[in-house]
Amino acid sequence: MNEPARSEGFAHAPATIRLGDLEVRRMGYGAMRLPGKDVWGEPDDPARARDVLRRAVDLGINFIDTAWFYGPLVANRLIAEALHPYPRDLVIATKLGGKRLPDKSWGPALRPEELRKGAEEDLRTLRLERLDVVHLRHRPGDGVPFMESLDALLAMQAEGKIRHLALSNVSAREVEQALARTPIVAVQNMFNVSGGGGAIAKYTHSEVDDPEGVLDLCTRKKIAYLPFFPLAVGNVAKDKPVLAAIADKHHASPAQIALAWLLARSPVILPIPGTSSVEHLEENWDARRIALSPDDVAAIGKQG
Ligand SMILES: NC(=O)c1ccc[n+]([C@@H]2O[C@H](COP(=O)([O-])OP(=O)(O)OC[C@H]3O[C@@H](n4cnc5c(N)ncnc54)[C@H](OP(=O)(O)O)[C@@H]3O)[C@@H](O)[C@H]2O)c1
Repeated sequence: MNEPARSEGFAHAPATIRLGDLEVRRMGYGAMRLPGKDVWGEPDDPARARDVLRRAVDLGINFIDTAWFYGPLVANRLIAEALHPYPRDLVIATKLGGKRLPDKSWGPALRPEELRKGAEEDLRTLRLERLDVVHLRHRPGDGVPFMESLDALLAMQAEGKIRHLALSNVSAREVEQALARTPIVAVQNMFNVSGGGGAIAKYTHSEVDDPEGVLDLCTRKKIAYLPFFPLAVGNVAKDKPVLAAIADKHHASPAQIALAWLLARSPVILPIPGTSSVEHLEENWDARRIALSPDDVAAIGKQG
């Protein structure tokens, strides 16, 4: 097991969350904003992107979420350039099941041979011999039966290429189905104060039925829940005006309140805000210090 994380600074306990035999602090970093515009190609300033990654580790963040198809291959390469050889307690989670098409859109890659190719790309570009956490990113209508894709990941786990399995874009039923076959250490679904509406409504293909039900299931089973788009892709303040008043009270920003709300919502939530800026990274990390009252949590959680 890696070293237990220090607990200082987290207003909403616990400070850490277990991922199988690993343990990480309950505020991670999502690497999707590191490549160029539209998560495609090189960033304007690769040195700045590497600074963000190094600063994340300096701050105490020891969980990074990435995927070979961010860039494609750009986010992973920047992570390796900035951080390899990796700190002993750093956990890098990846995703399989997606790919990028020439028009920059996001397509499925869920056939066993595509999943295997993706894992090889992750291992090569991250310079790893084994992937600590791999999410199976499975969306309805992607064409390959869920259990067939899961079995392909299990085969790679048996070969020692994958340490722990996780799921993304899944319903409670799919989580239960997977759990009947194998342990799952994390679920990564879209979840934020906007509840899937407002500016992120265009990402509805990422929505699953009953997101609260999936979170409740993970909370009961102590499975880490990674809310993606935790800042509604930077639109939380616009989508949820109530954040501004609560932010003023806490001398904080609306983005920080949105992250504090996630930490308060469940002890298994591990936010993975994405940013290409050191300033936003530091602001997001500091959100862990904000203690929201039960009234604040309820007001933010109200629809509308
Ligand atoms: N499983 C999946 O299917 C899936 C799908 C999407 C994303 N993800 C994962 O989830 C992570 C998070 O999602 P995301 O990065 O797309 O969206 P997000 O975290 O909701 O928002 C990121 C956006 O917010 C801005 N931002 C960050 N911190 C801010 C702050 N303190 N104040 C104001 N704006 C701020 C960023 O701009 P700046 O760069 O200017 O800071 C960026 O445009 C991704 O990095 C990825 O790892 C997974």
